[in-house]
Order: sequence, then C-alpha cells, then structure tokens
Amino acid sequence: MLKLVYSADELMASHPFAQFHEAAGHKLHGGFDNDGAYTPPRSLHRWPAIHAWQAEVERKGLPLIDCSPDLLKMGNYPSTDQQRFLLRNGFAQTLWNSLTIAGIIEGRGKLLADFPAPNFQEIIVEDISEMCLGHLNKGLLVAHGWDEGGNPATDIGAHDEMWFAVRDALFGEGAYPLPEPPERIGRPEQGRLMPQIPQAHEEYLLLLMNLTMIEVRAEATFRFYESVVNATDTFADNPEGVQLAAELIDRIRQDENIHVASLRVMLSEFRGLTIKTNDGGTMAGKDLFDPIWAPMIEWHVTTAFQASREQTRDTLREQILAAPDGEKLFAEFEALEQRQMAAE
Ligand SMILES: [Fe+2]
Ligand SMILES: [Fe+2]
Repeated sequence: MLKLVYSADELMASHPFAQFHEAAGHKLHGGFDNDGAYTPPRSLHRWPAIHAWQAEVERKGLPLIDCSPDLLKMGNYPSTDQQRFLLRNGFAQTLWNSLTIAGIIEGRGKLLADFPAPNFQEIIVEDISEMCLGHLNKGLLVAHGWDEGGNPATDIGAHDEMWFAVRDALFGEGAYPLPEPPERIGRPEQGRLMPQIPQAHEEYLLLLMNLTMIEVRAEATFRFYESVVNATDTFADNPEGVQLAAELIDRIRQDENIHVASLRVMLSEFRGLTIKTNDGGTMAGKDLFDPIWAPMIEWHVTTAFQASREQTRDTLREQILAAPDGEKLFAEFEALEQRQMAAE
C-alpha cells in the first residue's frame, strides 16, 4: 500500500545531509548525500508523497495535465546568441542584472508560505485527505514558499540566493550596482471566472494555475542561462566559475521539478473531483477547470511573454544606445533575433 497521508513535519523534513550546501560565498538550502549528489531541501518525504499521489491519479485513470516545456512557444528573450553578443561587446552587466533580477523575482515566491490556502474539502464531494490537494496546508505550500525565498528564521539562502550565487560564481562578488527589478506583469483583472465556487477558492485556484505556468516558463530560463554559461567563448577565463554556475542552475531545476510535479498532481486531482457549487449543486472539476486553464496557458506563453520581451528590450536598448557606437550595435543585436526567428 502506498503511503498517502503525511504530516506537516514529514513534508517539511530534509534528508540527513552528508554535507551542507554552500557556493560562491552563499550559504544555501539543500545538501549533498554520501555520494556527493545534490539533494533538494525538504524532499525526504515530499518527493515520495508526490509520486504516490500521482500514482493514485493514474490508477484512477485520470489524465495528468500537461505541464511540460512543450507548452512554450518561444525560448528566452534575449536569445542565447543575443546575450553572447552583449557579453562580447562590453555589456556584461546585462547578464549580471538579469541574474540578479531572477533571484529577486524568485524571492517573491516566499509569499506562498505566508498565506494558507482555503480548505478545499469544503467545496469537494470526495474525501481529499489522501490527496495532494488535502496537504496544501500540511507543509506543501510552506515548503514550496521557502524553496523560493528561504525560511526567514534561518540564514540559509533559497532560490533567490542561488541565482545570486550563479552570478557571483561568474562575475565575483559585487561586480556591479544592484539593478532596479522590473514591474510585475500581471494578468489584468478579469472579474469572477468561477462564480460557481466561493471567491477565496477561486482566487487560490487561479494562484496555483498561474504559478504552474510561471514554473513551466522557468524551464526556458534555465535553458537560456545554461547555454549562455556553457558557451565556450563566455567566461573562458573562469572555468571553475562556469562549472559551479552550471551546477547551481541544475540544482535550482531539481528543486523546481518538485514544484511542477506537485502543482501538476493537485490540479489534475481537482479536474477529476466533484465540486460543490454555491447553489447547492455539483459539477465536474474539469468543467470548471478546463475553460480557465486553456486561456491561462495562452496568456502566459504569448501575452505575458511579449510584454516581458518589450520590457527587457527597452532596458537593453537604453544600455546599448548609451555606448559610443550604440546605434550600430543595437541594429546588430536586433538582427540576431530576426535571424533566430527565421531559423525556427
Ligand atoms: Fe524557484
Ligand atoms: Fe518554484
């Protein structure tokens, strides 16, 4: 029998690490096992639990929603070639800024640990105590939030600090002044999307769906940074820093895999359950979920991507144009994107 019910203590428990995690002067979460393999924080029971809940979804014959990078239509902006061009032409600070901002944005994810979810059992007919959805406030959300922004009771860094460590491994500490993070790009207010259920539950479901897409989009960012870092002409004088940066990015990815997997399972469970509606009736979870999910994916992969591209392009443009031969360099920079789109 698979174990399907976990306590908060279990879901928050880490492995007995053989070695703690420290890199580029940053004390970080997670650790290493006896073989030196990286082990994400709070994953001793959390990973087996997610696998068990997923196995239950599959055993019931319910489809798992697609949360793969195949959902994405575009890679990263700027592209790897564009970023390498910037590095070659004296705009290394653009990469430093972007890694710093990646860390700042990750840190905002701590929010999840600070706001408990409403009780989903109140709007679901079936018993959810043996499901992922039944464990949101039993450690899952706090573990997730702390993975992003750290446990405030400790001095151990999370994804925010891990991106700063990637940056410092490549550039050394304090290479440039701190950049101003861009404004958040939020989905415009849509009014009630699921008036059949209480507002608190709707808001939390939307938060989980948005978060899922943000996590899916993060994979494109990992691929971008990996290819920039590993490009032979970048940081050729700092092979150790390059290696550490690449390892750190992969450690963040291993942590994020847990997030995507748990979000995928909880949303897939929701689709398969019977929802109690405000008018005293019931409806299938998928009839509530699917009409919201498809446009949500679309918004993230096109509208949000384009808006963030514009924002980044404006910032880069300003920096490039400030250089003596800025006009010419910006034209070359833009041409690299055209060439990439033509190749795709
Ligand atoms: Fe993260
Ligand atoms: Fe995450």
